[in-house]
Amino acid sequence: MTTNRKDRVAILGATGYGGGELLRLCLQDPKVEVVFATSRNRAGVPVEKVHRNLTGVSNLAFTDPTHEQLTVECDFIFGALPHGASAEVLGPLVDAGKRVIDLSGDFRLKDMDEYRKWYGREHPRPDLIASAVYGCPEVNRQAIAKARLVASPGCFATAINLALLPAASEGMLTGRPSVVALTGSSGAGATVRETTHHPVRAESARAYKVLEHQHVPECVQTLREAGSPALDGLDFTPVSIPIIRGIIAIATAKLRDPVTELQLRDLYELYYNKEYFVKTVLDREPECQSIAGTNFAEVRPRRTPAGELHAICTLDNLVKGGAGQGYQCYRLMSPNQPDETAPPLGWLGTWP
Ligand SMILES: NC(=O)c1ccc[n+]([C@@H]2O[C@H](COP(=O)([O-])OP(=O)(O)OC[C@H]3O[C@@H](n4cnc5c(N)ncnc54)[C@H](OP(=O)(O)O)[C@@H]3O)[C@@H](O)[C@H]2O)c1
Repeated sequence: MTTNRKDRVAILGATGYGGGELLRLCLQDPKVEVVFATSRNRAGVPVEKVHRNLTGVSNLAFTDPTHEQLTVECDFIFGALPHGASAEVLGPLVDAGKRVIDLSGDFRLKDMDEYRKWYGREHPRPDLIASAVYGCPEVNRQAIAKARLVASPGCFATAINLALLPAASEGMLTGRPSVVALTGSSGAGATVRETTHHPVRAESARAYKVLEHQHVPECVQTLREAGSPALDGLDFTPVSIPIIRGIIAIATAKLRDPVTELQLRDLYELYYNKEYFVKTVLDREPECQSIAGTNFAEVRPRRTPAGELHAICTLDNLVKGGAGQGYQCYRLMSPNQPDETAPPLGWLGTWP
């Protein structure tokens, strides 16, 4: 049963791109009160000075609250911090009984050897891993609703998982799927770096972290758990392209048994018909523009002439691939929210 009470939330790392999207979503929600939008360096600065899309929307300013303020004044905490720092900051808040949604990669992997290998550091809070729930509603909806700590999936990982999940859930995936995914510049966050600076990437396409992107292990973990334990790994090539928002992931995967294209289409339609935010598109190709700014993803499955699965998925890295999915998880967790789909969220995108 829902109540008229507002959930009091904090958004940590609110000056960043993920934090800005969380602000955009939460400030539109009549059942949410944003108590803290945190920043280490810009305390006192109105949020609209950084996120100009929020001009005139709210009087909120960034603050740098203490642990005690966060625990006393908030029900839900969103973390939009870099990995490593995230577990260190969020761990004590989970200890204090807060319900936490982390956008970083810190709590996604169950195997700490894998975390060390892909994130290059020891995990600061391995004791919290067992209770963390991977925040992919398409596989974990019920567990998310009860979770204290949700690890919201990575942007590439969401696109890859959604491209392959229906087949994985039927135990059809085997070997090492191959994925190429093209991404916009906002995926790299708000800080300018040598490889993400506009003149370097604006008229170019560039592969990076080839076969070694840190989202690989969370995809393998998720697809195995979904029903394809025989999966041997995943070969992934990320490519940066000159758009701002959006990911298009193109996956090819060996299938355990022969299937027809019609069977694949039926499987994907059945799996995603119950998912408000994932659309199986069969009469056109998935694209980034139709989902930009929204929590929707588009997926198109095919059978290759060699009998493999070919699947394309598009989503907005900052929304379904990040803050939107984290916010969707929050709505599942909150007894004050009627459901996970929210009309005030601007879920409808724009065209063109
Ligand atoms: N961008 C995406 O498409 C996307 C999608 C899914 C998930 N994610 C994940 O979400 C998290 C945030 O990503 P983002 O793109 O929003 O990053 P971002 O734009 O770089 O913002 C991160 C914010 O965290 C704060 N911060 C930085 N270092 C910190 C530290 N050591 N301790 C505490 N606060 C720190 C900074 O704010 P102050 O300097 O003002 O304190 C910064 O604005 C990352 O873990 C990222 O991997 C990002």
